[in-house]
Amino acid sequence: MTESETRAESPVRAYNEWDPLEEVIVGSVDGAHFPPWHVAVGAPLSPEQRKVFRENAGRPFPADQVAAARDELDQLVEILAGEGVKVRRPEARDHSRSYAGRDWSSTGLYDAMPRDSLLVVGEDIIEAPMSWRSRHHAASAFRPLLKEYFRQGARWSSPPMPELSDELYVDGWTDQPDGEPFRSVITEFEPTFDAADFIRCGRDIFAQRSHVTNALGIEWLRRHLGDTYRVHELVLADDHPMHIDASLMPLAPGKLLIHPDRVPEVPRIFKDWEVRTAPLPVIPDGHPLYMTSKWINMNVLMIDEHRMVVEAQDEPMRRFAEEWEIEAIPCPFRNFNSFGGSFHCATVDVRRRGALLSYF
Ligand code: ALA
Repeated sequence: MTESETRAESPVRAYNEWDPLEEVIVGSVDGAHFPPWHVAVGAPLSPEQRKVFRENAGRPFPADQVAAARDELDQLVEILAGEGVKVRRPEARDHSRSYAGRDWSSTGLYDAMPRDSLLVVGEDIIEAPMSWRSRHHAASAFRPLLKEYFRQGARWSSPPMPELSDELYVDGWTDQPDGEPFRSVITEFEPTFDAADFIRCGRDIFAQRSHVTNALGIEWLRRHLGDTYRVHELVLADDHPMHIDASLMPLAPGKLLIHPDRVPEVPRIFKDWEVRTAPLPVIPDGHPLYMTSKWINMNVLMIDEHRMVVEAQDEPMRRFAEEWEIEAIPCPFRNFNSFGGSFHCATVDVRRRGALLSYF
């Protein structure tokens, strides 16, 4: 018996980034706070971003920006619902509340990016063992939904809860000097990963080590998924890696969107795919981007392999999609982008209609 025969009714089922989307979770930016300052928070950020995070540690993000991002999320929800997708949301939470591990304490960040904290592989919804103390309970925002999905027949997995003690973080970490290989802020003390360091193409799943995902984290997922899936670790040219979905985005079988610099050599496995470089971002210099580069423009969401949600002001990305025979569905999202993600980050696809296939 195959997995899909035994659990035909599972409400969770997605094997890739492009099958027709049936149900999706969209994050919430309400209650968003800058986390307490910590070396692991600063590592993936630029020097200017680090300064803002240090100066604002523990404070709420500006209320007007939260409101503008909330409004854009609501527009995304309407667009997805209009396309026939069932949309689920987390309850708003106050991220100024403090919680503790064994020898540390922290406040939270936000519930805006479910893609970071939940990974759907087939009928399994997996909570990411995140390495930021401020995201230790990130998946719990979605627990009411996870319990509902589990009751209805989904698999629900949680890796060993990381301790996040000081041994996880490199003592005295500094950026690698220019031109030297990436030096992660996290050690191999225990498995950690963010779900957004993985991208799914059926039986093949691509991963990167980053400032939040270590080799043990990737190995945990590999063993958890077993022989049904092949987890490939890619080494991309990202000086401050955190999340693969602004570097490498499979849009449809045979269509790979890449960052122009971070994928100097397209992995051989994609040799039969058409690979195109993302158009230059159009986000103006003055626009706040607290946590990402402007390449968040390529963090798109496929509704199916012929329809893509694109940022409403991103004319080059709209043209790019249409030249590749993909209908571009515009949604204003620039204010949301400020918080560190775009459509892919802000969502997690719970169910896409399709089967487990091999595309290589
Ligand atoms: N870390 C990715 C970027 O900033 C999302 O481009």
